[in-house]
Amino acid sequence: MFESITRSQFGGDVQQLDKVFLGNTPGVLRSYLFYMLKKLKDKNPSLKVNVPCCGSFAMVKCALSAGFTPMEIEASDVSIYSSILGYVYSGRPIDDLPFQILREDDQEKYKTLSSEEEKGSFLNWLMKLEQINPNSDYNRNYIEYYEKSWKEQVRHQAKQLEEMKKTYGGLTYRISDMRAEINKADHENTVLVINPPAYKLGYTKMFTTKDRIKFTVDIPEFFWDDEFADEFEKSLDKKSLFLWYVYKPVLWLPVENVFFAAEYMRNNVDYWVTNRPETLIQSGIEKKAVNYPQKDLQGLKVKQVPKDYEITEATKVTFKKVSAEQSLYYRDLWAHRLGNTRAEEYGSCFWTAWCLGQSGFILLICGGSTQTSCSRCSDLMLRWSDTLQPTACSCAVSPLRNSRGRSPKAK
Ligand SMILES: C[S@@+](CC[C@H](N)C(=O)[O-])C[C@H]1O[C@@H](n2cnc3c(N)ncnc32)[C@H](O)[C@@H]1O
Repeated sequence: MFESITRSQFGGDVQQLDKVFLGNTPGVLRSYLFYMLKKLKDKNPSLKVNVPCCGSFAMVKCALSAGFTPMEIEASDVSIYSSILGYVYSGRPIDDLPFQILREDDQEKYKTLSSEEEKGSFLNWLMKLEQINPNSDYNRNYIEYYEKSWKEQVRHQAKQLEEMKKTYGGLTYRISDMRAEINKADHENTVLVINPPAYKLGYTKMFTTKDRIKFTVDIPEFFWDDEFADEFEKSLDKKSLFLWYVYKPVLWLPVENVFFAAEYMRNNVDYWVTNRPETLIQSGIEKKAVNYPQKDLQGLKVKQVPKDYEITEATKVTFKKVSAEQSLYYRDLWAHRLGNTRAEEYGSCFWTAWCLGQSGFILLICGGSTQTSCSRCSDLMLRWSDTLQPTACSCAVSPLRNSRGRSPKAK
């Protein structure tokens, strides 16, 4: 049965099975960052950007869109994922990364690869295999498929990396602790953009390479709750400008340093905060607050599938389009108020008369198997397997428009 399953039959990115980096800076925060960087660059054309904790390079993309050239951008991180991208973008050999492939069969495969993009994609492929939890038939089938089709997967991703390199190529990347980047940031011609990790060991867990790769970077993951206050205070004494992404209400932050707030629901607020409010004001940057009023959520008038439900031949499986209000009701009921996770269209799956689950779909982009750019702004996107991942394309970072293309309501 497995042999006949094709990539598309896995239903794309439903469980984010072919995406390595899970997590991103929300679109509305990227929009405001783009706005700030553009104003700063217009005012000071020789300004440079430093992005510690660069993750999937989404903030770097904002800087590029705002007019910084790759030569004016430095980025750093401690993870193998970001370092693979960083080495490819900065033209450094993947073999210079501090890693070891542990299994002999993997080493043999790696030896057959020649380009840096293929080597980097191979490491990503190994990482993805370790990330997928073999807890269901669906996932086990996917792992088997992913293992068997390794050449195709690697070639596919390598092509995307080559495309991405056209956008990001020429920037400077280093493996570096954000604490060290902050300590040495004392140049007034540099703006540091920092979105530090918020959850303890979140990224260490995400990039676990267990038995397949050993990645030896001995820098402890930054932990927001324990460390942010000290690092923010340090930044107040620096000559460089800092733009800090803050992911929850912090009562001690001086109000004059807060330039942007997006409130999704009570106690779920994101901010941009700076160490130098006067520099932003001189560049003509205006403060902004947006909120997303809670919709009147309303469940479907059907019961949930009982735990002891048995599927029989008589079970009728249906899938129906439902409204955001109906679907988000279940998100909050089942997923403990995930907050700002939204989609463009929503669907509900029923087993006969019972509701089994909800799905949300982001409709943008996919325009055929060869498309690698956003159909709205023509920016490039990274394709892992058969789904396209927008990486902060221009329409996602254009000011005053959120990722769903709507203007957020100003407070
Ligand atoms: C919230 S993510 C950044 C997301 C990124 N701005 C984006 O939108 O793609 C945090 C990143 O910090 C990195 N990180 C964790 N501890 C670090 C440290 N001590 N120094 C530098 N980077 C670190 C993680 O590997 C992760 O990529």
